[in-house]
Amino acid sequence: MPILNFGSLNIDHVYRVDSFVQPGETKHSKAYMVNSGGKGLNQSIAAAKAGGQVLHAGLVGRDGSFLVEKLQAAGVDTALMQASDEVSGHAIIQVADSGQNCILLYGGTNQLLTESYVESALSAFGGEGLVLLQNETNLTALIIQKAAEKGLKVAFNAAPYSDAVNSYPINLLDWLIVNEVEAAGILGADADEQLLPRLAERYPRAGILLTLGSAGARCCQNGHFASIGSCAVQAVDTTAAGDTFTGYFLQGILQGSGTAEALRLATAAAALCVQRPGAADSIPNRAEVEQALNEGALRVPEVQEW
Ligand code: RIB
Repeated sequence: MPILNFGSLNIDHVYRVDSFVQPGETKHSKAYMVNSGGKGLNQSIAAAKAGGQVLHAGLVGRDGSFLVEKLQAAGVDTALMQASDEVSGHAIIQVADSGQNCILLYGGTNQLLTESYVESALSAFGGEGLVLLQNETNLTALIIQKAAEKGLKVAFNAAPYSDAVNSYPINLLDWLIVNEVEAAGILGADADEQLLPRLAERYPRAGILLTLGSAGARCCQNGHFASIGSCAVQAVDTTAAGDTFTGYFLQGILQGSGTAEALRLATAAAALCVQRPGAADSIPNRAEVEQALNEGALRVPEVQEW
């Protein structure tokens, strides 16, 4: 089943620091890189590398042709993308020695989608498949609504969380993908052990994937719960780890692997991703993931199901 990703594309300006800049502080960075990124671009690449047929929809600015080339090199179909005279989205990313990151976004062309563009991309996609989106573009609610009206499956990664998410038609989703912050924001609650069951109760139609960073991930679909830990690896850069997990997990589900196998595959892919610097460039391909699993280079924890 193909994926149509109305996905953000960002030029990532990445600064390596020993620790994040604090309010009022000025500090030197240790290294600087310009990378291809954006949660949308990263998720398209992850799903395509996992073996999916992925079409990316979105606008790219006059400065972003290398982002389109990055998608194409990973096997993503960019025929539905449009060029704009405006500037592309970008991100200012600090990566600390711990491997953690903090990210400041500028929307650029990610925020310039029009209703007619959305309509034409959906029409061109056809009547069967999964529409994927993140919370880095405009018209999110409209895209969910229109895709559901066409009978397409819809997956939404509510990242990064904003109050607007609570105005989106989450009840129409087939998959809601969140981390703890996003889950707590949607529920209007503190992060605790009950986030997943509470989301599942509130949105019984949707499968819910809750990613927990180094604590692994949990999911629920049709009342069936599953949980997995993460692989013990030395992270150098966690940027795009969540996107890698999302792309691999969704493709696993779409190819009929079942939630346990999809979780296993996504966990292994994310473990390889965090051991490499960068966003899109750190996403492993399927052969690398399978080799790491088969040769025992990664010890993926057992999936617990209930
Ligand atoms: O999830 C990582 C991504 O978040 C980065 O590539 C950055 O562009 C932001 O969108």
